[in-house]
Amino acid sequence: MKYVLFTGATGDLGRCCIEEIVKTGDWTVFAGGTNKEKLAQLGKLPNVIPVELDVTSEESIENVYRTVRSHTYTLDAVVNFAGIHTFTSLVEGNCVQEIEKMLNVNVMGMVRVNKRFFEMIRIGHGRIVNCSSESGWMTPQPFNGPYTMTKYAVEAYNDSLRRELMYLDIPVIKLQPGSFKTQLTNKIYRDFDAAIESTNYFRNILTTMKPMMTMELGLDHDPKKLAKKLLLALTAKLPRTKYKVCTGKLLMTLELLPDKVVDVAYRAIVR
Ligand SMILES: NC(=O)c1ccc[n+]([C@@H]2O[C@H](COP(=O)([O-])OP(=O)(O)OC[C@H]3O[C@@H](n4cnc5c(N)ncnc54)[C@H](OP(=O)(O)O)[C@@H]3O)[C@@H](O)[C@H]2O)c1
Repeated sequence: MKYVLFTGATGDLGRCCIEEIVKTGDWTVFAGGTNKEKLAQLGKLPNVIPVELDVTSEESIENVYRTVRSHTYTLDAVVNFAGIHTFTSLVEGNCVQEIEKMLNVNVMGMVRVNKRFFEMIRIGHGRIVNCSSESGWMTPQPFNGPYTMTKYAVEAYNDSLRRELMYLDIPVIKLQPGSFKTQLTNKIYRDFDAAIESTNYFRNILTTMKPMMTMELGLDHDPKKLAKKLLLALTAKLPRTKYKVCTGKLLMTLELLPDKVVDVAYRAIVR
């Protein structure tokens, strides 16, 4: 039996991935999250050990470390899915606090967890999988800046960690999912409406952009496609450095254009 610690296990994507992982019969999953009800649900799956884990708290991570160590001395993988999203302007509202909060969960949470469990991974000849996003490599969209900042940071962290740990033969792999309907994306609709209500400067542009955002977020991709890529990342003898899945086609076309042309395209939206 192989052991994996999974953060963000109580999320919609996390739960789906864990269901597929345990179906293989090869893995025991330490499933981390803060939502007690969802942890209890996860605990009903075979070979899933729910653990209360707040990735912003060293104390919480230490408690989980003790629990994991009571079951195994080594880990075959750590998978980092814990993440939050806030849709906000970069100059209005509580953007500074929101960005700090998001960086703390999406980036520093990953840093804390990987650091604490590194030795167990090293001894187990295991690997690390970090969940980025298409927002981590695509040209940034207006008003999605804070989340984009965190996922660009995840990319830089992941790649630097990969090149550091390759000297110890520990693969570090990133996932770059497109859009999936989850609690995280549902929250974007609410944030978007709140931003339209509260903005002093961007009401017209946000209102005009809403249908496009709705179209992009409305894409009903099957999360099992992500789970399949994750299983590859966890088991391939020679895993790729990154796995893209369900990349947004509309956004992808912007990648073909020079920055200035993308700016013109975004400007044209409000004309
Ligand atoms: N959905 C998408 O379209 C999409 C696209 C690309 C990438 N992603 C990435 O995929 C990952 C999972 O997202 P999702 O869509 O499944 O979102 P979700 O359903 O909202 O799940 C988010 C997960 O993060 C956990 N989390 C949040 N704050 C935490 C904290 N302080 N400590 C520990 N866990 C914490 C939540 O746990 P609790 O609720 O138990 O606290 C939950 O398990 C995220 O990293 C996200 O950025 C999502």
